[in-house]
Amino acid sequence: MLKRALEGVGGARRNLGWRSWRTRSLGTEVPKERVECVVIGAGVVGTAVARELALRGREVLVLDSAPTFGTGNTSRNSEVIHAGIYYPPHSLKATFCARGRDLLYKYCSEHNIPHKLIGKLIVATSNSEIPKLNHILIRGTENGVPGLRMMEGSEAMRIEPELQCLKAILSPFTGILDTHSLMLSLVGEAENNGATFSYNTTVIGGHVEQSRICLHISETKCLESCNGSFPSQPEMTLIPDLVVNSAGLSAPVLAKRFNGLQNEVIPPAYYARGCYFTLFNMKIPPFEHLIYPIPVEGGIGVHVTLDLDGLVKFGPDVEWIDGVDEISSFLNKFDYSVHANRAELFYADIRKYYPNLKNDSLQAGYAGIRPKVSGPGQPPGDFVIQGMETHGITGLVNLFGIESPGLTSSMAIAEHIATRYL
Ligand SMILES: Cc1cc2nc3c(=O)[nH]c(=O)nc-3n(C[C@H](O)[C@H](O)[C@H](O)COP(=O)(O)OP(=O)(O)OC[C@H]3O[C@@H](n4cnc5c(N)ncnc54)[C@H](O)[C@@H]3O)c2cc1C
Ligand SMILES: *[C@@H]1O[C@H](CO)[C@@H](O)[C@H](O)[C@H]1NC(C)=O
Ligand SMILES: *[C@@H]1O[C@H](CO)[C@@H](O)[C@H](O)[C@H]1NC(C)=O
Ligand SMILES: *[C@@H]1O[C@H](CO)[C@@H](O)[C@H](O)[C@H]1NC(C)=O
Ligand SMILES: *[C@@H]1O[C@H](CO)[C@@H](O)[C@H](O)[C@H]1NC(C)=O
Repeated sequence: MLKRALEGVGGARRNLGWRSWRTRSLGTEVPKERVECVVIGAGVVGTAVARELALRGREVLVLDSAPTFGTGNTSRNSEVIHAGIYYPPHSLKATFCARGRDLLYKYCSEHNIPHKLIGKLIVATSNSEIPKLNHILIRGTENGVPGLRMMEGSEAMRIEPELQCLKAILSPFTGILDTHSLMLSLVGEAENNGATFSYNTTVIGGHVEQSRICLHISETKCLESCNGSFPSQPEMTLIPDLVVNSAGLSAPVLAKRFNGLQNEVIPPAYYARGCYFTLFNMKIPPFEHLIYPIPVEGGIGVHVTLDLDGLVKFGPDVEWIDGVDEISSFLNKFDYSVHANRAELFYADIRKYYPNLKNDSLQAGYAGIRPKVSGPGQPPGDFVIQGMETHGITGLVNLFGIESPGLTSSMAIAEHIATRYL
């Protein structure tokens, strides 16, 4: 895969194939190649970046350790286009969510990506939650989120008869989309504009040479066959003008393996699993809007999401995990299992706003893992985008902590990178 992809990069302009590097690089010398732009990770952020760079005429090579795009799993999320309510004003999350939301709705309309503006209700179910709800409204308004409105419980319960609450905020511009269709479209457009995707290809580290980053590349199967240690030598070194490290959960782990990048600038990596349960035996979804409780630490609460097929999902909860080693991280060997015993907690949480939830109606769904830059008990972190201005290495851009609303923000992050770092 790597060989074929590299032959494709630069097309006619470059007549060096893998074989010629092999013969040129005598003995154990690792073959080297220059590429204009390398994007690490074909999640939704990486593919949006690749598309943007390719549209601007750059030569782009996307590397992903997995056999295809979006396994990270960009579709292990709620597939919600967030309006941008909760984030601290002027934070990257607030800024990119707002811009990304607008870009995404436009993109989905223009490219026939299935999506729906179904709106959401954030609900207070006890008196003690009402001040928090008021706060959320102030925050959302400060962030310029359009159309937010406080409702009495009676009005909310009229539009959602299964709902129980004292007050609610309506966010009319929150929506849902089909992430897989979005990614297919982004990848297709990137490829049509000359980008090359090389799957089964892992970036195992890098080093800085003349203040420029060189990437160490290995085929994933080689890493897999190494029994949990790194190969003593990469199969090749890439010397790009621009590298965007959008390896999601692995981005900080990978950055630590860039020899010559100061470790101090790399934020700590925390991981928080979020599990979903689905509602089964229900012909008609009980709700038409997304229903969100007041946010909890580490996430925005076990909420009701609907997908475009009308499947009702509850989640994600927050479960901090640790002990993730580098190779498992690169090979995406995270524990994505949903423990059925967590259902008990779900019933209790959900019944606060959906009292008619029947016993035995929840079924284990799927899990996703949030890449976080702050740990339990700490205030939530912002997205972290570090370029040369932070670490002094030409052409290296690291993306850390791209958790929710990363999907909503993806096209705005791509635009930012292209305007700021090209
Ligand atoms: C439970 C949950 C719910 C969420 N809900 C929402 C939501 O409703 N709305 C929203 O806007 N956002 C949501 N998010 C956030 C959103 O899903 C993420 O921000 C987004 O998917 C991140 O995309 P990414 O491209 O940065 O990372 P990923 O999708 O993780 O992609 C990273 C890629 O890098 C590859 N990779 C890793 N290491 C290497 C390496 N060493 N070499 C080569 N490739 C490598 C991986 O294989 C992977 O394909 C949610 C997240 C979670 C976990
Ligand atoms: C990637 O590897 C998997 C299994 O290791 C293999 O089935 C698949 O064909 C490979 N894909 C590509 C594009 O090389
Ligand atoms: C993401 O994970 C879900 C649940 O495990 C799976 O059904 C889906 O196929 C995955 N999506 C991609 C694009 O790999
Ligand atoms: C990995 O382990 C297997 C069996 O445990 C062994 O056959 C193989 O030679 C090992 N490979 C390497 C690269 O050490
Ligand atoms: C539902 O389960 C709880 C305990 O898990 C039990 O107390 C309750 O009676 C059950 N309700 C119905 C309607 O079966």
